[in-house]
Amino acid sequence: MTVYEAELVVDRREFAADGVLALTLRHPLGDELPAWEPGAHLDVVLGPELERQYSLCGDPADRNAWRIAVLREPDGRGGSAHVHEQLGQGDKVRVRGPRNHFALRPAPRYRFIAGGIGITPILPMLAAAEAAGAEWTLLYGGRTRRSMAFTEELSRYGGGRVTVAPQDETGLLDLASVLDDVPEGTLVYCCGPGPLLDAVEARCPAGLLHTERFAPKEQEDGENTEFEVELAQSGKTVTVSPDVSVLDAVRAAGVEVLFSCTEGTCGTCETDVLDGTPEHRDSVLTAEEQESGETMMICVSRCRGKRLVLDL
Ligand code: FES
Repeated sequence: MTVYEAELVVDRREFAADGVLALTLRHPLGDELPAWEPGAHLDVVLGPELERQYSLCGDPADRNAWRIAVLREPDGRGGSAHVHEQLGQGDKVRVRGPRNHFALRPAPRYRFIAGGIGITPILPMLAAAEAAGAEWTLLYGGRTRRSMAFTEELSRYGGGRVTVAPQDETGLLDLASVLDDVPEGTLVYCCGPGPLLDAVEARCPAGLLHTERFAPKEQEDGENTEFEVELAQSGKTVTVSPDVSVLDAVRAAGVEVLFSCTEGTCGTCETDVLDGTPEHRDSVLTAEEQESGETMMICVSRCRGKRLVLDL
């Protein structure tokens, strides 16, 4: 599968809230950009060892511009600081994608829950739900009202469907109000910090929830063991020792594979499993997808047993 990759230009740069910078990107020659659907993200290449994923939060119908929003994280690993400090209007930035592991499935009703910068993938979902004539509500939390991006854009939705709940005014999000009595046919979409996602996961009826995480889920991983991986397309077999990832072992064998976050959150390295049982350690696949064992994120996931056959 060929993935779109291009150097785009920062056409607009504006603050969407305290510490949240929204960038509008265009092709330098005015070329049309690939189509995308709500929930999609871009890989943004900020330097040789600095690559980050940001959700597209503009209008999917606008094929000339992509909008992302970046929260400055003072204790982050440098990606958001780079965007805030180094990317000015007119600067070029390399992007790859879009990719979507958080697609909006058709449903008559949705409950959207966003925490902080987690509003970004939800924003285009609201427009899509609205256009489809679905019933929906949004519960949107953040530290303070000033830190919450796009509240003005959200104010165009009437009918009391949007609840903006800054923590310093109303405390923690009232998840019971949206999750305790979910009508049949409802899907729940949630994006935000780990503790919010964990709380929603614990409360939401099984099978309804779709989440996107910006940071790896905290989970108990088993001990790393050694196993073999047969690469069906390239006809190679590699040994994955306990201290390396499948991704590293595959790359060391000279097999090209796409990857980005290397922490199991972006979905770029998703690989088809032809035989063997993966031990999933990612934060992308749903429980059902993990159970099926059809694909795995080779940057973090390993093998239950001694051998995997991958479609590489
Ligand atoms: S590289 Fe992001 S999930 Fe593997």
